[in-house]
Amino acid sequence: MKNEVSEKYIDSLILSLSLEEKIGMVHGNTLFSTKAVERLGIPSLHFSDGPMGVRLEFADNYWHSANNHDDYASYLPCNSAIASTWNPKAAGHMGNVLGEEARGRGKDVILAPGINIKRSPLCGRNFEYMSEDPRVIEKMVVPMVQEIQKNDVAACVKHFAANSQETERLWVDTIVDERTLHEIYYPGFRAAIKEGGLYSIMGAYNRLNGEHCCTSKALLDGVLRKQWGYDGVIVSDWGGVHDTTLAAEAALDVEMDVGADFDEYYLANSYKEKIISGELSEEGLNEKVRNILRMMYRLKMIGPQKESRKAGRFNTKEHQNATLDVARESVILLKNEEHLLPLNPGFRGRIAVIGANAATIHANGGGSAEMHALYEITPLMGIRMLLGGNAQVRYAPGYYVPKKQRAEISWQATSTMSEEELQATENGGHEAAGQKHLQKQYYEEAVALAKDSDIVIYVGGLNHGYDVEGLDRADMKLPYEQDKLIEALLREKPDTIVVMYAGSPVEMSWLPDAKSLVWSYYAGMEGGKALADVLFGIVNPSGRLSETFLKNLSGCPAVQGVNFGRKDKVEYTEGVMVGYRYYDTHEIPVNFCFGYGLSYTEYVYSNLSVEQDGTDVRVRCLVTNTGAVAGMETVQLYVAPKEKGKLIRPCHELKDFAKIHLEAGETREVVLTLQKKDFSCYDAERKDFVLMSGNYELQIGAASRDIRLKETIQITG
Ligand code: GLC
Repeated sequence: MKNEVSEKYIDSLILSLSLEEKIGMVHGNTLFSTKAVERLGIPSLHFSDGPMGVRLEFADNYWHSANNHDDYASYLPCNSAIASTWNPKAAGHMGNVLGEEARGRGKDVILAPGINIKRSPLCGRNFEYMSEDPRVIEKMVVPMVQEIQKNDVAACVKHFAANSQETERLWVDTIVDERTLHEIYYPGFRAAIKEGGLYSIMGAYNRLNGEHCCTSKALLDGVLRKQWGYDGVIVSDWGGVHDTTLAAEAALDVEMDVGADFDEYYLANSYKEKIISGELSEEGLNEKVRNILRMMYRLKMIGPQKESRKAGRFNTKEHQNATLDVARESVILLKNEEHLLPLNPGFRGRIAVIGANAATIHANGGGSAEMHALYEITPLMGIRMLLGGNAQVRYAPGYYVPKKQRAEISWQATSTMSEEELQATENGGHEAAGQKHLQKQYYEEAVALAKDSDIVIYVGGLNHGYDVEGLDRADMKLPYEQDKLIEALLREKPDTIVVMYAGSPVEMSWLPDAKSLVWSYYAGMEGGKALADVLFGIVNPSGRLSETFLKNLSGCPAVQGVNFGRKDKVEYTEGVMVGYRYYDTHEIPVNFCFGYGLSYTEYVYSNLSVEQDGTDVRVRCLVTNTGAVAGMETVQLYVAPKEKGKLIRPCHELKDFAKIHLEAGETREVVLTLQKKDFSCYDAERKDFVLMSGNYELQIGAASRDIRLKETIQITG
């Protein structure tokens, strides 16, 4: 909240600043900072990526590492992994780690978290995002922002808004109707601001309904400032501004870009000249500076509390332990026939760990989420660390990953290259012939090793050659001929444990033949240890899918026709019918539904009771752990409108959830709540949510397609 004292202090500073000095504060003066005004004690604003940890130090004016050898930091689980915990406290813990490490590395703004809706499984940055569902995002982003900012660092939630593809991301015009924006694409950002107290937000590269997000008055002033009362800083994505007047008159406060011609930025010399000529108002510039100074005041960079600003710290044991805890909670058990899992940690026989992802590190890829990890425990290391030297653990890559895989080419370069240029770069990087030969050799070695082992653990999936900024996947297929290898391993060893380590869903033609399947998103520096802990029963898995795992793309409305991956314009013709909202309504067969995940124990739901006071509803039920081991269950509450009106509405929508710990045999009560907004739809005419009276079925479930308890209530306006 604004306060009198700070506003008066800020106004006095503005009166003392020259035009030149104010201009220097509203655009990049290096790639990741703005100009200071030393004489008035106004420091530079230092930005840093990213969502998975504080990025390596960059050169001031060249998109390249500064070759700093002290910028290794804690490598956190990606936002998809954090969301898979369905535990807002876990999101808070990672926010605290990220904020404390950012402060420790001398940063003022951490460019995270990314919270765009996972509209299509092909979006290259889905690993950086949380969910296909706005309510999951709202409940995870608020504690994350609050905990980041407790360290006197600004969170910078991104990318506002509707940035759900990477193809032609700087120019694609995203066409979305108002209702869909307010019900699906905006809620995470609104919650970060209204409940999280967000200090900064990043405009998206794309155009939205014809206007570039970073210079759209309707979006930045109309929605953020006027509708939501946002008084923090709005920063452009790096290269998201294309016009001085538009940037000056929209509510954008800081322009950042990837070039070193800092004085040629749109909000630099040309802005100054237009103010001097009277074409643009200096008051508009003052407003930008006011927002920047307000954030600096809140961060204790200026003002009477300067001396008490937190110092931060990075690479601490606490941070590593917190990262391990969240990584453990993020792992999702998707299949476990014949209770093949957990494996016996005391096993002393021959274990084959097959698949290049068992020994691959991922921290150094993905685009702006890349970072120098202090360390990264791979699945193979995690398994070896857990079993010690007594078991015979042998590794075979099983498939060949081309050396010049996109992950190794500068992500910034690739994100501005055409597909043809990219192919040329890639093909120049490895011999196609050699690849074929190696592929055959790795395959044969892997099958032979499986034949000569007691237990086979396959670890495959994707890498940042596919889950990467600036690029969308062409399909959901597993690369490197993994399907053929998995099928061969399952023929050889039907009890093969299959693990997918990836940032987005894949087709799994072999799924019917696999008795076990474990899924891990890129889970950070302790990811391999967390995975081993789940495989060998040290941890009872409690991850749940925060996105639907489709069988293939045929069922996805977001990739049909004009909807996805086009360079000029994409139309979100599916409207609010995104993810499970579409698949559950149309009963599309999927591999695994939204909210799904298994455990090494079972849970029984009972005793549903509903208390209603108008539109305030309290839903109670009992959950019992009927198995032999303790575990954590995520109880989900979906709301299903019973009447079909003229408005298209999903068959049900997630409105609340809670994660609880239960000892073996324990029963606990879970209380979930609903408010008026949970029975409302956005009315574009009234520019507000409107209550939709009628009958609603309240559904308590363990997944969107595993509803355990139901009750119908009536809502009257
Ligand atoms: C990128 C990304 C954004 C990142 C910024 C700075 O292009 O879109 O997420 O924070 O530039 O690296």
